[in-house]
Amino acid sequence: MTTIHRGLDGVVVDRTAISHVNLDTNSLTYQGYPVQELARHCSFEQVAYLILHGELPDADALQAFKAAERASRKLPRGLWDAINRLPLSCHPMDVLRTAVSHIGAQDLNSDVETASADLARALDLFAKLPSVVAADQRRRRGLDPVPPDPGMNFAENFLYMCFGEVPEPEVVAAFEVSLILYAEHGFNASTFTARVVTSTKSDLYSAVIAAIGALKGPLHGGANEAVMRMMDEIADPSKVSAWLESALRDKKLIMGFGHRVYKNGDSRVPIMQEALWKLAAKHADGARLTGIYTRLADHMLRTKNLYPNLDFPAGPAYSMIGLDIPTFTPVFVLSRITGWAAHILEQSSANALIRPLSHYSGVAEREVPRVLQRN
Ligand code: COA
Repeated sequence: MTTIHRGLDGVVVDRTAISHVNLDTNSLTYQGYPVQELARHCSFEQVAYLILHGELPDADALQAFKAAERASRKLPRGLWDAINRLPLSCHPMDVLRTAVSHIGAQDLNSDVETASADLARALDLFAKLPSVVAADQRRRRGLDPVPPDPGMNFAENFLYMCFGEVPEPEVVAAFEVSLILYAEHGFNASTFTARVVTSTKSDLYSAVIAAIGALKGPLHGGANEAVMRMMDEIADPSKVSAWLESALRDKKLIMGFGHRVYKNGDSRVPIMQEALWKLAAKHADGARLTGIYTRLADHMLRTKNLYPNLDFPAGPAYSMIGLDIPTFTPVFVLSRITGWAAHILEQSSANALIRPLSHYSGVAEREVPRVLQRN
């Protein structure tokens, strides 16, 4: 009797040294460090380096990493022209996917797959993709792109390129926390997709493009956008109960709740929720959004025993930061590119082609009717 693991639920596919979800303690570690501590004490650049290199950087290594990132932020003219030709009605994730394809096609050595060459490619994408996302959001608002500022750190520079000014330090800090929390999460769907592509010995760009496609879906990264659309539809905290009861009666999925791995709460939520509350304290829409947030979370726990996942606080946080809803999932990419790249490198370093089996459930073998042959 074949056992079928639909959705690979509960299947351990390979080893990884990059991150670990400990369900007993409900914690997430990157290279052994609890993500809560990283979010409190480290910059996003330090965490990105940790994920890519396996250790936190010393002062010199951090300096070199930051300098390399800052030096690669500018988009080549051809890429900007290509983005401008894409319809404004396409999703920004499609723009991002196209941008990676464009950058990959210019890399005439993309088939050279040494670890150092892949690390350099990953760093180049890490530096350039924020410029793509910010310029695309401005293009949709009818505004010219703002060139990157090499004097600013990763988070400040991205927000500056989006809005033409750097927001208040608390806003930048909340955004940086979200980047740290989104950076890496084991064999999630997009990371696994990147590993599958890498396992065929395809190139890093192809793996990243495939991962962007997987992340776009609302059951994965697209949930942060869906959360905000849901909150906009609910509109007011007083309407949460009626809205939720009707949605659950219609068997709708409530976006931002549930998780394949965490069944007793997502370890990243408390720290993102703290950042959300800080943003809300200073924002005109803060009380309304945190009111909807709290009532949804309470009701879901009481009636469905389901906890929020990271996308639940990230959605309203990004809205208060001033990002447009379709930009939310691309922002997830700006951070998760570090986790994807680390997994691509890990898969390459001990490769085994990922090729599972399926249980056939179609009709039994049969003959093609003679009358149809060579017709
Ligand atoms: N809203 C309503 N019901 C939900 C739910 C949600 N967000 N998440 C899970 N459930 C229900 C399922 O319908 C199922 O009920 P059933 O047993 O009566 O059929 C039960 O809880 C178990 O869910 P299941 O689909 O088996 O969990 P999963 O591990 O396959 O799915 C998710 C995990 C994340 C895909 C799922 O929880 C979901 O779709 N969440 C909403 C999208 C989201 O926020 N994605 C971001 C993930 S980080």
